Amino acid sequence: MIIRDVQFVISAVKPHQYPEDALPEIALAGRSNVGKSSLINKLIQRKNLARTSSQPGKTQQLNYYRVNNGLYLVDFPGYGYAKVSKTQREQFGTMIETYLQEREPHKLQLLVIDIRHEPSKDDQLMYKWLKHFQIPTCIVATKADKIPRSKWDKHIKMIKTTLEVEPGDNVVLFSSETGLGRDQLWAIINEAISD
Ligand code: GTP
Ligand code: MG
Repeated sequence: MIIRDVQFVISAVKPHQYPEDALPEIALAGRSNVGKSSLINKLIQRKNLARTSSQPGKTQQLNYYRVNNGLYLVDFPGYGYAKVSKTQREQFGTMIETYLQEREPHKLQLLVIDIRHEPSKDDQLMYKWLKHFQIPTCIVATKADKIPRSKWDKHIKMIKTTLEVEPGDNVVLFSSETGLGRDQLWAIINEAISD
């Protein structure tokens, strides 16, 4: 994918702030600090347009990035971060739930998992929930550079088993450090928005 143009559009907290031009949307969910914003930066080949941090809980709204005037990447706040207040956690939860159930241009959900660890209870719930609402989903196992290549297969299998990934859903091995999986993920995204 050649990136000609990318723009940060809005940090939205309420649905009326979501863009109204009906371009297809690809959203990213996952635990706090798993690497969602880094993954976006790798996809769009920008160093730090999506704000990343070694401190969890950095992304607190739905952040919209418009790519090549053809689609949006939507960065969700991460879940499972203990230091976020209960009220705030509930607000994120409601915002994400409403988005997933009602957002018409939403074409594909990326569920981002750290390849090193077994998916958490929250990851499992999220995946079950996505499948319950029949949302097309792609699992992205990121930080692949953090484990030896010889262990990739075993970890991918572990992720598939724990999440009970449905046969129709792709699992992509990714690294925002090396760019591994970038072309494959763009192919999946382009396929998802092509119909
Ligand atoms: P929240 O916004 O808090 O939910 O976090 P996030 O999921 O957006 O994570 P972010 O992209 O900010 O990355 C968290 C940390 O992990 C940063 O220190 C990144 O540099 C690091 N990181 C992310 N992806 C990779 C990767 O593929 N490889 C390595 N080695 N580090 C990564
Ligand atoms: Mg982030």
